[in-house]
Amino acid sequence: MRAIDYCRQIDDSDPMTTWRAHILQLANIAAGCRSILELGSHRGISTAALALAAPDAEVVSVDLCDTVPEGDRVAFWASHGIKNIVPIKDSAAAYLSRCLMAGERFDLVFHDAVHGDAAAAEYVACAEIADIVAIHDWEQLSPPHQDDLVNRFRSWSATSDTRGRHLFVGWRK
Ligand SMILES: C[S@@+](CC[C@H](N)C(=O)[O-])C[C@H]1O[C@@H](n2cnc3c(N)ncnc32)[C@H](O)[C@@H]1O
Repeated sequence: MRAIDYCRQIDDSDPMTTWRAHILQLANIAAGCRSILELGSHRGISTAALALAAPDAEVVSVDLCDTVPEGDRVAFWASHGIKNIVPIKDSAAAYLSRCLMAGERFDLVFHDAVHGDAAAAEYVACAEIADIVAIHDWEQLSPPHQDDLVNRFRSWSATSDTRGRHLFVGWRK
């Protein structure tokens, strides 16, 4: 299945799910990537778009698994014939700290786990390990933390969905 066809039929009525148009934006970015990390999988809907857009990439998707059981999203990915997702049951903070220690890098990191200032240190870690960083619910981050992050990128954009949730995308200097 092509990523664009998948994105067109996404049911984004669950408020936990990223807006369909933002998922399409992420899929377009993922198309040029070989290594992708997603933090916050939930039903696996955005993960599937990333994996379909970049079939030769490994997509690591990390979730605490306290909202949707891992088996449910694994079955969802299998129902779309997707084989390039590695699910990890962990906290975003713990996984990022292991990446930093191991020097592991990704072309793209999509952060959609904890939001707001509680996630500020995680966003900084994402900027350390990725060439492109996407952050969902960017509007929940206070201006000082937003300014700190923006300064780490050579260019960035932030767009709103119909619920007022912003998707930030930054490209490293
Ligand atoms: C908004 S949902 C992700 C939606 C998904 N990206 C999509 O658009 O289809 C947030 C997910 O993050 C997970 N989560 C919350 N806190 C987390 C943490 N500290 N570490 C890892 N995952 C976390 C929750 O279990 C939930 O499944």
